[in-house]
This record gives sequence, structure tokens and C-alpha cells, in this order.
Amino acid sequence: SPTENFYDAVGGEDTFRRVVARFYVEVAADELLRPMYPEQDLGPAEDRLRLFLMQYWGGPHTYSDQRGHPRLRMRHQPFTIGPNERDAWLRCMRIAVDAAGLSDAHRARLWQYLEMAANSMLNSWV
Ligand code: HEM
Repeated sequence: SPTENFYDAVGGEDTFRRVVARFYVEVAADELLRPMYPEQDLGPAEDRLRLFLMQYWGGPHTYSDQRGHPRLRMRHQPFTIGPNERDAWLRCMRIAVDAAGLSDAHRARLWQYLEMAANSMLNSWV
């Protein structure tokens, strides 16, 4: 329908669950990214990223109910995110997005946002 948002159009929670689960499979195997995650169990980080993305694209506001205002740049300050970390994050995310079976238009829109967001998280130039 014309009023359907992106969240619903791509398949709702199931789609975000698949994308973010695959993303963390890639993170778990990434030598640069894996050591950055403070918790041994990546499950809670997976929940936070999934809930954030669901909320961003028009789904339920569970992320902010649990975590408050996203303030993502501030929340990433404890981690050194230079070009290498950004590239590794995007490489993992690319695999996850490509595996999700979205239409070309949906995939392009999601990817454009993720690239912009990853660039906005840079806080180091080494
Ligand atoms: C949290 C790394 C980009 C969304 C985190 C955490 C790390 C991290 C290490 C802490 C794990 C946790 O406890 O949740 C990175 C790196 C990035 C990146 C290396 C490279 C550019 C992004 C982008 C987004 C994002 C582009 C959104 C589109 C989040 C969210 C959290 C998080 C929602 C949890 C925040 C909270 O509620 O505490 N990230 N991140 N990250 N990241 Fe990223």
C-alpha cells in the first residue's frame, strides 16, 4: 500500500533478524572487529543493533524504550573506529544485506543508509 513503510515493505522483523544475525556471524569471524566487542556473548549486541535498525526504518520503538535516545556517535566513542574498522563493518554488513533476498531498490536504499551511517561513526583517522 502507499502508506506502507520500509520496515513492512522488506518483511518486518524477520528480515531484520536475518540481516543482523548474518552480520554477527561475519563479525565473530573478523579479526579486527571481534576483539572490539566488550562482551563475550555477541547476542546482546545483536539484539541492540536489530532493535535499532527496526526502529529506524519504521518498526516498533523497542530500542528507545530499552536504551533511550540512540546517540550512536556518542555510544561509539569508547571504540576506535578508523577507516579499517569502518571497512570491516561494511564488509560484514554487505554480506548480510546481499543474503537477505531484498529487491534491488530496497537493497540499494538500505545500503546507502548503512554506508552513510558507518561513515558518520568514524572517530579516528588511523
Ligand atoms: C554498538 C562497533 C557502526 C549501530 C557497537 C559496539 C561496537 C560497535 C563495538 C558495542 C557492542 C554493544 O555492546 O552493543 C561498530 C563499528 C562500526 C559501527 C566498528 C563501524 C563503522 C555502526 C553503525 C550503526 C551501529 C553504522 C547503525 C547503523 C550500533 C548500535 C549499537 C552499537 C545500535 C548499540 C548501542 C547501544 O544501545 O548501546 N558498535 N559499530 N554501529 N552499534 Fe556499532
